[in-house]
Amino acid sequence: MVGFIGILFAACVVGFIGLLFGLLFLDHFHPLVLNLGLAPRGSFGWPLVGETLGFLRPHPSNTLGGFLGSHCSRYGRVFKSHLFGTPTIVSCDQELNHFILQNEEKLFQCSYPRPIHGILGKSSMIVVVGETHKRLRNLALTLVTTTKSRPGFLHDIESIALHIISSWQDKRRIFFCEEARKFTFSVIVKQVLGLSQDEPQTARILEDFLTFMKGLISFPLCIPGSPYARAVQARGRISLTVKAIVEERRRKKGGDSCNKDDFLDVLLSTNDLSEEEKVSFVLDSLLGGYETTSLLMSMAVYFLGQSPQALEQLKREHQSIRDNRNKDEHLTIDDYKKMEFTQHVINEALRCGNIVKFVHRKALKDVRYKEYLIPSGWKVLPVFTAVHLDSSLHENALHFQPQRWEGTNQATCKKFTPFGGGPRLCPGSELAKVETAFFLHHLVLNFRWKTEGNDTPMAYPYVEFPSGLPLEIEPISMER
Ligand code: HEM
Repeated sequence: MVGFIGILFAACVVGFIGLLFGLLFLDHFHPLVLNLGLAPRGSFGWPLVGETLGFLRPHPSNTLGGFLGSHCSRYGRVFKSHLFGTPTIVSCDQELNHFILQNEEKLFQCSYPRPIHGILGKSSMIVVVGETHKRLRNLALTLVTTTKSRPGFLHDIESIALHIISSWQDKRRIFFCEEARKFTFSVIVKQVLGLSQDEPQTARILEDFLTFMKGLISFPLCIPGSPYARAVQARGRISLTVKAIVEERRRKKGGDSCNKDDFLDVLLSTNDLSEEEKVSFVLDSLLGGYETTSLLMSMAVYFLGQSPQALEQLKREHQSIRDNRNKDEHLTIDDYKKMEFTQHVINEALRCGNIVKFVHRKALKDVRYKEYLIPSGWKVLPVFTAVHLDSSLHENALHFQPQRWEGTNQATCKKFTPFGGGPRLCPGSELAKVETAFFLHHLVLNFRWKTEGNDTPMAYPYVEFPSGLPLEIEPISMER
């Protein structure tokens, strides 16, 4: 009797393992795939973790990485996998990526992992969907317009750039990532909260922000003292500081709701948002506008350091802009429009540097697209890096060649999506470009630099220069 039960038990165990193996490893045994038969090829990897570890394995951000490389050659540019605890379709195909982004809220929906919600808060624009997202986004677009049309907009950016660059006068070595972060943080805090860099609240927010960022990229373990838990606390403190600033502005303004001078005034005067949503909105803007833009600047400096020709051409463009204005004048919107080659450098740094490797979506229903079927409820990851580095779309795709952007209209370009696309297209793209262009203007006119060691941008998949991009610098002259 005991022997029979033993065999039965063993058979059950073997059967269960067989089933698990089938479900997780073999395409044909997965029930959804069995029914539908059309899901792309691929593998579900190991039980529970699936292929997540392989997918997240760090690689230089100007390469595809081993996981995507091997999967694309084995299964094609669209394949299925099991990532972040969910069956997933990974798309490295420009047409499918475009289709996914354009069909936001119709066939697909933004869907970031739970821990991200915990840390960004439930009202963050990155995590909200449907009507709430539309409401927040409309306000974001109004705020972008208000901020850009403020008379001091360009001047503030330039002054902050000059402030940072002039602090290098006696230095021979800097960590560029840190300097770029100081710059983009000061710019966004000025644009959003109207604070200048030497106000005590700015330093307090910056300190909390650094803790916040560490938690955002850490393992989401919510036990006291863990980076994740500290980040949640830091977010709470930033919210309190922001609330205090908002209250102070309200008091100062009194009953005057007509005079909407800047971002904070417009935000305060809107009736469409709850108090919590307003604070969350400020946090999103700070978060979105800080790390990504500083990375873009670091990418530009990194790639230019390896491309003497491109750097020469960039210098010539900025020398000509400087020569055509009086010494005491500030950069204007017309100067910015003349920075054509600079825009090519920025585009190329975005294409090669891949600051955002992919975005998170899920299928709202079964979606048929060409020969593929994307089952309802599955995670869908459009991978921008794979399209940016696809040599059938970009000649010499692995090389930094800003000239490739001459005469192109990238606004309608499916093969170049550093800022995403569709209804969630990044609202801060123009600000990021102006900041980078203005900083580069003063950098190339005032300093020569050489990258020290061989620091490379790495995709973890969040992108970082592991050594902070150390540069040897040498002043040229200290003119504006
Ligand atoms: C080089 C700099 C930047 C890059 C590469 C970048 C990239 C992106 C990408 C790819 C998305 C789409 C996310 C998705 O579809 O799930 C996005 C959204 C967003 N970005 Fe940026 N961004 C940059 C700068 C900025 C700046 C300067 C701001 C704010 C001032 C900003 C604020 C936002 C916000 C609020 C969203 C959410 C939009 C929505 O869900 O509708 N970003 N960004």
